[in-house]
Amino acid sequence: MMRMPRSGGVLRAVWLTAAAGAVAASVAGQGASGGGVPALDRNALRPDTVSYKEDVLPIFQKRCAKCHGAENEEGEVVAEVSLIVIDHKRLMMGSEFGPVITAGDPEDSWLLEMITEGDMPPEGEGDKVPEEEIAVIRQWILEGAKNN
Ligand code: HEC
Repeated sequence: MMRMPRSGGVLRAVWLTAAAGAVAASVAGQGASGGGVPALDRNALRPDTVSYKEDVLPIFQKRCAKCHGAENEEGEVVAEVSLIVIDHKRLMMGSEFGPVITAGDPEDSWLLEMITEGDMPPEGEGDKVPEEEIAVIRQWILEGAKNN
């Protein structure tokens, strides 16, 4: 009679340990296999390698700002097609035609296509954006196009 409660207690402890193990295994499994986890979530676990302020902004300042965000001699902000690329919030709002960047998806980002194709800056308005700089912008978009 005296042993019954104790053995019941042991069984309960064993069951709890097994349940906790199963939860830990399923969490570990998700991280390891990546099955069904979107690419953006996996990237969120990695440290960012590219910064908007440190890496992307200087490129935009140099090559794009005179038509997309800088002030002209009269002190008016020039924003061709309402696109400003030197302010993160405005950049993510896109142009009067819609978004130009899809965070996490370079292939779906119109701005990247424009510079890759050599359509921006417009012909005669500056050099084509070099490959290394395009790679920086691509990586920033891939990492979530953050205001970092
Ligand atoms: C000399 C002025 C000028 C410069 C410099 C310039 N742009 Fe533009 N941009 C324009 C004009 C004008 C348009 C609209 C007409 C067109 O699409 O050709 C435009 C359109 C765009 C669009 C398309 C917006 C849409 O929704 O269709 C993007 C994206 C863009 N520019 C990005 C850039 C980037 C990035 C740079 C720098 C690498 C840049 N532009 C440099 C004048 C400029």
